[in-house]
Amino acid sequence: MTTTKTPLTQMKSWKSLADHYTTIGDVHMRTLFADDPGRGERLTAEEADLFFDYSKNRVSDETLKLLFDLADESGLRERIDAMFSGEKINITEDRAVLHIALRAPRDAKIEVDGENIIPGVHEVLNRMSAFSKRIRSGEWKGYTGKPIKNIVNIGIGGSDLGPVMAYEALKHFSERTLTFRFISNVDGTDFAEAVHDLDPTETLFIVASKTFTTLETMTNANTARNWLLGALDNAEDSIAKHFVAVSTNAEKVSEFGIDTANMFGFWDWVGGRYSMDSAIGLSTMLAIGPENFLEMLDGFHRMDEHFRTAPWDKNLPVLMALLSVWYGNFFGAETVAVLPYEQYLKRFPAYLQQLTMESNGKYITLNGSPVDYSTGAIYFGEPGTNGQHSFYQLIHQGTRLIPCDFIAFGKSLNPLGSHQDMLVANVFAQSEALAFGKTEDQVKAEGTPDWLVPHRVFEGNRPSNTILADELSPSVLGQLIALYEHCVFAQGTIWQINSFDQWGVELGKQLAKQIIPELESDDLPELKHDSSTNNLIRRYRAAKEK
Ligand code: F6P
Repeated sequence: MTTTKTPLTQMKSWKSLADHYTTIGDVHMRTLFADDPGRGERLTAEEADLFFDYSKNRVSDETLKLLFDLADESGLRERIDAMFSGEKINITEDRAVLHIALRAPRDAKIEVDGENIIPGVHEVLNRMSAFSKRIRSGEWKGYTGKPIKNIVNIGIGGSDLGPVMAYEALKHFSERTLTFRFISNVDGTDFAEAVHDLDPTETLFIVASKTFTTLETMTNANTARNWLLGALDNAEDSIAKHFVAVSTNAEKVSEFGIDTANMFGFWDWVGGRYSMDSAIGLSTMLAIGPENFLEMLDGFHRMDEHFRTAPWDKNLPVLMALLSVWYGNFFGAETVAVLPYEQYLKRFPAYLQQLTMESNGKYITLNGSPVDYSTGAIYFGEPGTNGQHSFYQLIHQGTRLIPCDFIAFGKSLNPLGSHQDMLVANVFAQSEALAFGKTEDQVKAEGTPDWLVPHRVFEGNRPSNTILADELSPSVLGQLIALYEHCVFAQGTIWQINSFDQWGVELGKQLAKQIIPELESDDLPELKHDSSTNNLIRRYRAAKEK
């Protein structure tokens, strides 16, 4: 299936932006702020608990107008409506894209193939709540009668990154008598280290896999089963007490040996990287409790409604998306740094890597033709202030333009002396330094010897957004995640790509399946790869035998 649409670079608004870039591209933010002193208050937007300052960007009112024209000409409003109404906008997989239904209120109505999906969503949420209460209260007992103390999520990609990130982000709200571990890598070390101090009789495994066929997850799940059975005299009926599954694939779940009564389902209209608020978030609910989980869903929903209804100039995800398109396509920026000044968000950048790059790492348009412009940026980041002592040098004085998203909070969940003031002072200092830099005259005025001056000049004019909230709560986390989810969709819409498939991960999976027996067979089979791959296989086999 293809859609007919004016190619992006032929659009009137795109051409106008290209023209406009030639006049504004080199204008310094010092000038923009000097000419418009109220800019810092004006170029802001607010929704729910998030305050968004986008004034430190290389844009004028004219730039913004043209970017909004681009959103209109790209049919963003229609695409948003299509997504929210359950149209099958994931055309290459013939699926609706309805993560927004996971957090819709009970009385909402969204139809897929003529059926309202909302009652099903709430039924699963109810089952998750009931199960969480049983585990958290100690009512659910392991095979030997002991309550569960350890919860181990086995999953990878969207079935891991969201759960890990949310557990870390909301640790403050978590039940501290329970231990949480996350196993994703097929590297046996991940499993061994995760369980080395756990008692199998007190451990519950959540096998989280949308497809229930993923090599890494199924390998780890089998190892977990053997680990449990090894400690329990191979009592197969212990599985029901120590394993639950989260999946869309009931058949594979029961094939593995997990009773489907212990399965929490979701649906093919939830993409893996958009699934942390579905049953994939079971570990999150176990950690923070059903009430906090529902509060998080409410935060998501508030951002969903905002994205669906707000005009572009107030719409946080759309503003973020348009700014990233502006830098990526007109300034040639290749990356975006996400810099949360909140230790609890330490896994947020890693989570965003999958969300952004698996979604928008595409060079084929919805029409099936190759793009002639850049698409998805490389997202990376670390929590502040750690990143400042690591890679910020390149952001300040390197040769590349790296737009930054700073995320900061008014209050710490762990107030300690003046730590929070110091932390937040650093956020504001960084965005100020990036935007305005330090001129040669300023450096000289400090008495710097002439030869050292060029090294100490900061040219500035490096853009950033600042997102500020009062405090990190379950709701604020939901708002932040939904903000980036919708930003990704708005970017993908402008680039005319499908942000919801991931065919690019398939080839490596297929080849690995072919190579596994070539590494495991007793005798060296005939190798039919290229000479490099053949040689590496031989070297590996030799190393194994040493
Ligand atoms: O390989 C990529 C991917 O398909 C991701 O999109 C997904 O989140 C991950 O693998 C895990 O898939 P599953 O939940 O089906 O095990």
